[in-house]
Amino acid sequence: MATPETNPDPNAIAAGFPTGFGWGFAASAYQIEGAADEDGRGRSIWDTLCDVPGAIADGQSGRVACDHYHRYLGDLALMAGLGSRTYRFSVAWPRIQPDGSGPANELGLDFYDRLVDAVLATGIRPHLNLFHWDLPQGLQDRGGFANPEIVGRFGDYAALVASRLGDRVIDWMTFNEPAVFAYLGHADGIHAPGLRDWPTAIRVADNELRAHAAAGSVIRSHVPGARIGVAYDMNQVVPATDAERDRAAAAAWSAARDAWFLDPLFGRGYPAAGMAAHAAAGHLEGVELTDPPAGDLDYLGLNYYRRDPVRARSDEPFDFEMEGRAGTEQTEMGWEVAPEGLRDVLLQLHREYAPREIVITENGAAYPDRFAADGRVHDDDRISYLARHLGAAAEAIAAGVPLTGYHAWSFMDNFEWSLGYTKRFGMIHVDYATQARTPKDSAEWYRKVIAAAG
Ligand code: FCB
Repeated sequence: MATPETNPDPNAIAAGFPTGFGWGFAASAYQIEGAADEDGRGRSIWDTLCDVPGAIADGQSGRVACDHYHRYLGDLALMAGLGSRTYRFSVAWPRIQPDGSGPANELGLDFYDRLVDAVLATGIRPHLNLFHWDLPQGLQDRGGFANPEIVGRFGDYAALVASRLGDRVIDWMTFNEPAVFAYLGHADGIHAPGLRDWPTAIRVADNELRAHAAAGSVIRSHVPGARIGVAYDMNQVVPATDAERDRAAAAAWSAARDAWFLDPLFGRGYPAAGMAAHAAAGHLEGVELTDPPAGDLDYLGLNYYRRDPVRARSDEPFDFEMEGRAGTEQTEMGWEVAPEGLRDVLLQLHREYAPREIVITENGAAYPDRFAADGRVHDDDRISYLARHLGAAAEAIAAGVPLTGYHAWSFMDNFEWSLGYTKRFGMIHVDYATQARTPKDSAEWYRKVIAAAG
């Protein structure tokens, strides 16, 4: 197939999507809310990591972030003005259970109650994500997701949120990017809780899969008619060169990463190739694994950003790197731009797992946005990125993929984890000194796409 549509004309883009398509935005609690000490919120593992010198670019944290906790009404008005039909947000567990267990902190639930009401009042459909990485520190002190007791704790937390908001929220998501949380947080150490131990990461992954299944039943018991999903991130994994060892490394990474999560979610248990790759690298030392129960999924969420070129550093198992290659088009993250990869990943998921529905739960790009002399941010590079990825999504729909929604990452610039505020992904520019919001050109462009799609 050819490279996806590059014509950014909103009408041309919109023509590839059915009416009723779920156009919207995604964001997450720790990245935008701020108000870290307000209304009884407990500490999360991200508060802890942000206090570690050198862990976050410029020593930043999500303590204030976009101050969305206080500005959510204005933010939602802006979002509604763009014609957004859906909004994917996350609930901060430490606002609901400050230490991670016990009765609900009512003030925390009140905030999401107000938020959901405001989202609905603007005519937007809320997509509620229970976990976008901000685990209560109290639970981490007991081993966090490596401790199997987390499965029950997550179920309790899900019950508190579902019983309060389930009368208004139909679309639920258990986890954001369970693989990133497990591997970057527990093996690579660059995300919270900042651990570097593969067997721990494998235990975390296993408990996430179990917690997903358990929370599904909890949500259904409180919310008849709930639609349950998970936001899984899958990029296009390719060997960096044709060399045999790059090809072997790419295959091992796919098996030990994406299939490691998706096979169990779809009821197939852990994949043999992934098991072999993890075992060869010593990741399973002291770990006893049985297959987790199948995930309860009405839809699969897909977060897609880039092509991941895998380059082996040696012939040792799991000794490889993934970096954008010289000469390729890259975003400011150094991520290789690969819209055709989005189409191919969608086709692959449809072919191999056949989820009932797929929703793109994140897609977007960071660029060094600057104000021009006319006071605007002309982010043509972001428009081009989005247009080509939407073109790729439209090709997947035409090829039969049951894709029903698209949540752009992100609504506004926000705290980009270990990179602090140095990377801007928003369609709305945020001036962190004044909290002024300024729509970039991409926001107006996206508004036109949604309007043209009808
Ligand atoms: C994803 C995360 C999201 C955001 C984007 C850029 O991995 O889910 O919170 O940081 O990347």
